[in-house]
Amino acid sequence: MKPEIKGELPGKKAKEWLSKDKKYISPSYTRVYPFVAEKGEGVWVYDVDGNRFLDFNAGVAVLSLGHSHPDVIEAINKQIKKLTHYSGTDFYYPSEIKLAEKLAEISPGAKNRKIFFSNSGAEAVEASIKLARYHTKRPYVLAFYGGFHGRTMGALSATASKTIHRKRFFTLFYGTVHSPYPYCYRCPFNLQHPECDFACIRFIEDNIFSRLVDPEEIAAFIIEPIQGEGGYIPAPQGYFKELKKLLDKYDILLIVDEVQSGMGRTGRFFAIEHYDVIPDIIAIAKGIAAGLPLGACIAKSGVMNWPPGTHASTFGGNPVSCEVALKVIENLENGLLEHVENLGNKVIKELKKWEEEFEIVGDIRGKGLMIGIEFVKDKNTKEKDKARRNKIVRKCFEKGLLILPAGENSIRVCPPLIIKEKELFVGVEILYEVIKEVSSHSLSNNP
Ligand SMILES: Cc1ncc(COP(=O)(O)O)c(C=O)c1O
Repeated sequence: MKPEIKGELPGKKAKEWLSKDKKYISPSYTRVYPFVAEKGEGVWVYDVDGNRFLDFNAGVAVLSLGHSHPDVIEAINKQIKKLTHYSGTDFYYPSEIKLAEKLAEISPGAKNRKIFFSNSGAEAVEASIKLARYHTKRPYVLAFYGGFHGRTMGALSATASKTIHRKRFFTLFYGTVHSPYPYCYRCPFNLQHPECDFACIRFIEDNIFSRLVDPEEIAAFIIEPIQGEGGYIPAPQGYFKELKKLLDKYDILLIVDEVQSGMGRTGRFFAIEHYDVIPDIIAIAKGIAAGLPLGACIAKSGVMNWPPGTHASTFGGNPVSCEVALKVIENLENGLLEHVENLGNKVIKELKKWEEEFEIVGDIRGKGLMIGIEFVKDKNTKEKDKARRNKIVRKCFEKGLLILPAGENSIRVCPPLIIKEKELFVGVEILYEVIKEVSSHSLSNNP
C-alpha cells in the first residue's frame, strides 16, 4: 500500500475544521502542516477528506502499536465495561497494581521498584523531580541544554530546548541549573568523541560544582538518554557510565526522562539499557499506553519513600490505560522489541548513505525506530538549514508522509513500532525523493 492524496491539501472538509480550530483552539499549539485526522489503521491514517497518509510520527511517538490495534481495542472494550475509573490515589484496583508489578519487572536493574502513576509526560517528570527533592532533602536539580521535559512549571524549569517554551513564564522553579548535553555532532567544546574524554562531564565538576552549586545541594540530574524534541540526539556510548561515577561520588540521583525514548522505541524497553547503567528514577509516558493517557515515575523502592499525602493524582493510573499498557508490554515481550531493533539497524544503515549522497544531510543518528536527520547548508561549516528542513517536512506531507521536525534543523523518524519493513521503506523512498528535490533548490528559492 502507498499514500493516496486525491487533491489539493488541505482539502475542503479539512479547511472547514481548520477555520473552526482557529476560532476555538489555543493558538499556543505548534502545528507544522494542516493535517486533520479522521481515522487510522496500522501505520495508515486518513484525513477528513479521505486522503491516506503513512504515519512516520505515531502521534508524536505515542502510538506504539499503531492505529486501531486489535489488542488495544479488546483491552479497552473489556475494561471499560468493568471499571472506567476509581482513583488509585484513594482506593485500590487490580489493573494499576498489575501494571506496577510488570513495570517493576521490566525496569533496568533489580525488581525492587515502586511506581507513581500520572496522566502525561510532564506529570511523570514533576513526580520524579519532587521525589528526588523529597528523598534527598536537597534543593537543586541539574538538567541539560537542549533537553525537553514538558511544560508544567517544574518540568519547564528543567526544559532548555527553545526559549519560546520559557518566555514570560518567569519565575520558574528556583534551583535548576543546566549543563551542555553530549551533542557530539556539534560538540560544545569543539572536541571529538572519544578523544574528548567526556569534557562535558569534566565541565560539570570543574565549573558548575566549583563555581555555582555545591554538589551536596544537588538532588538529581535529569537527562534524556536520547534527546527528543532537541533533535533526536543519542548520548555517545560510555557517557552514562562516566556520568554515573560523578553522581555516585556525591550521592546525587540519576533521573532518566524516557518519556519519548522509552517503552520499546529504541528496541529496548528503556533507552538507558543501551548504556548499561541503572538509573534511580525513570519517567515514562507517550508510548506506554498506545495512545491512551498514562505516565509513570518508576523509582528504586528505597528512593520512593514519601509518606501518604506527599504526592497524588486523581486520574493517574486510569484502569483502562493500565490494561492497554499491559497489552503494549505483552507485545514488546513477544517479539516487538527484536523487530524494532532489527528494523532500526537496517534502516539506519540505509539512511547513513545519505550523509555521503546529499550535501544538506549533515548527520543521521538514532537507535531502533527513534531516528534523527539533521540538515545543514554546508557540511564543513555545519550551518543549520532550517528552511530546507521545513520544506522537506511540508513536501513529505503533500506526498502523504507524516513526518515531524525535531530541534532547530532536524527531522524525526518515529513510526509506530509495529511498522513492517515494506511500509517503512515506502516512507524512506518518499523521504529520499523529497530530500533530492529540495537539495537542488537554491536557497533564494527557499525562504
Ligand atoms: C522527553 C520528554 N519529556 C517530557 C515530555 C512531556 O510530555 P507530555 O507532553 O506528555 O507532558 C515530552 C514530550 O514531548 C518529552 O519528549
